Amino acid sequence: MGVGLPFSPGLENIIATTTRISTIDVENHRILIRGYDLIELAQKATFEAAIYLLLYGRLPSPEEVAALKQELVRYMHVPRPVYELLSRMPGSMHPMDVVRVGISVLAAYEENLEDPSVEANLKKGLRLIAATPLIVGNGYRLLKGLPALDPLEKEGISYNLLRLLKPSPPEPLEARIFEQTMILYIEHELAASTFTARVVASTLSDIYNSVCAAISALKGPLHGRANEKVMAMLLEIGDASRAEEYIDRLLSRKERVMGFGHRVYKRGLDPRALFAKNLLRQLAENKGKLQWYELAERVELLMKQKRDLYPNVDFFTGPLYYLMGIEMNQYTPIFVAARMAGWVAHVIEQQSENRIYRPRALYQGPPYTPLTQ
Ligand code: CMC
Repeated sequence: MGVGLPFSPGLENIIATTTRISTIDVENHRILIRGYDLIELAQKATFEAAIYLLLYGRLPSPEEVAALKQELVRYMHVPRPVYELLSRMPGSMHPMDVVRVGISVLAAYEENLEDPSVEANLKKGLRLIAATPLIVGNGYRLLKGLPALDPLEKEGISYNLLRLLKPSPPEPLEARIFEQTMILYIEHELAASTFTARVVASTLSDIYNSVCAAISALKGPLHGRANEKVMAMLLEIGDASRAEEYIDRLLSRKERVMGFGHRVYKRGLDPRALFAKNLLRQLAENKGKLQWYELAERVELLMKQKRDLYPNVDFFTGPLYYLMGIEMNQYTPIFVAARMAGWVAHVIEQQSENRIYRPRALYQGPPYTPLTQ
């Protein structure tokens, strides 16, 4: 039964909200964050400067970045009981679920959990942005039977996260490339997880529940988990000479090739993918493991030839994190730690000009039947 309203499956091409945070300018191959090109930010800015831009709407001065860094250091703290709980999670649990549990419990330590004002949300948001990398990194360590480490106060968020996830101390090139991938991931308009966060926030539920719901959405392989699945696929292929046979097999079974396609870019270029591809070449060369770059490039070419599909950002972050020695099931939690700043900005925006999301559904069930018994 129609309701006389337009219907677009998957909300494709539907404008669901206004925003001043970011936009995807498909025609010009640009992602704008508060008016600045995301790729230029990845080239020239620090992760903290990008956070500042997202939260305060303008680029910071060097003094303002330093002050934000100090403030984030203050929030880089996870109460012991949270770590104790994480260390007791079953080893079979996916790290995305471990992170979601950790953040849920962290909410209990907030004084103004239910306050949806900009001021209160900003404060809670800063804690979320600073503490999530510790929950990700130390959650990983604790489940491996390693002790949780305190953050290095002189270092930024991305370095601290990488240090917790890597078996050896990060090298300078790795650390900068890792930070650049975190900037690439920081914000991307109304991705499924961000939309989820806004829907939950629109009920005036709190910011913690909003971002936990976003984490649940990000866990799906069609969204954030693609980076993990990409690397599993590349490892299975193993060598560029076997790529064509593998891809043909997937396509003939009508299976998705992870890391390709995008609802907004369609059969066009994701600017983040292009930038991440260059990072992959740099790191692979530096590590003397160019075969991973060559394999990725071969799969990219095959997908272009066979389906006219381009890679998205996840296609290259997967092998990048692999070359850094990070375990595959941590790739999507890294995405959480990076995107947290974007989710926080969206929850703040949603709740400061709120209207609850409540769309309609096109009913396709049976018509009215009187109850005779
Ligand atoms: N492998 C094979 N075919 C594909 C793929 C793919 N990865 N992506 C799209 N197609 C085909 C699809 O089968 C369809 O073909 P046809 O027109 O013949 O039926 C056509 O391309 C259009 O696809 P669609 O299903 O309309 O695309 P969508 O907008 O519904 O889905 C997507 C977008 C990202 C879910 C999808 O491209 C996909 O499943 N990609 C693989 C998962 C992935 O890499 N996700 C990460 C997205 S970017 C980072 C992030 O946000 O997390």
